[in-house]
Amino acid sequence: MTAIRILPDPQALAEAAARHIVERAHAATRERGRFSIALSGGSTPRDLHLKLSSAPLVDQVDWDRVHVWFGDERCVPPDDERSNFRMADETLLSKVPIPPQQLHRMRGELPPEDAAADYERQLHEFFGEEPPSLDLILLGMGDNGHTASLFPGLKAVREQHRWVMAEYVAEVSMWRLTLTPLVLNLAREDLFLVAGPAKAHMLRQVLEGPYAPDERPAQVIRPAVGEVFWMVDAAAAGELAAPPG
Ligand code: 6PG
Repeated sequence: MTAIRILPDPQALAEAAARHIVERAHAATRERGRFSIALSGGSTPRDLHLKLSSAPLVDQVDWDRVHVWFGDERCVPPDDERSNFRMADETLLSKVPIPPQQLHRMRGELPPEDAAADYERQLHEFFGEEPPSLDLILLGMGDNGHTASLFPGLKAVREQHRWVMAEYVAEVSMWRLTLTPLVLNLAREDLFLVAGPAKAHMLRQVLEGPYAPDERPAQVIRPAVGEVFWMVDAAAAGELAAPPG
């Protein structure tokens, strides 16, 4: 099931997304005793992280029940300014009392294929032999339709066996690590956060255009059981033909 909610601006989007995540954390902790969330990179999640790590929301989460994973990572050391872990650490992880052993980092400092195998091992160790179903996977969308590090035309977009892949992305001139559609589509909820006018044209194509995941990888996110929830700001929704509500 796909749902979309349009918020007036990026700050309202960050606030609404943070409150939604707190609710999902409460539900997961109630039902399963823990909350496994995969963070995304880029710039959009920064404000969301800052809301989650500040009062009042920071006091509403049972942080010692939270396990943090990553949907994708750049193949750089964790202190590199391009690192998704570094951004998450600066805006959220260093500000909340999550037990260190519950921070499951993609080790971008390793050779890419080793890093992918290492992360798949981490997932197996935690979730067991079956492909994992995380409670919530945060996703962004590039203006070229990529999500996580599933970029147009790349092999990872079609991967249905491996859980984690490393692939060189010529478009950004770097190796990337990414959860594959197999794992992304097993999440109980895939939560897209999209903001800004630059995303409006692609958002319309992704939500209202023909299914073409090789061109628009964000369309590959179609969980069989879980939900896809798009939280977008009015600028990003500016070209949608039929905004809901
Ligand atoms: C990354 C992200 C990527 C991001 C989109 C949107 O590693 O860059 O995981 O998929 O979500 O590129 O990025 P912005 O939020 O900066 O627009």
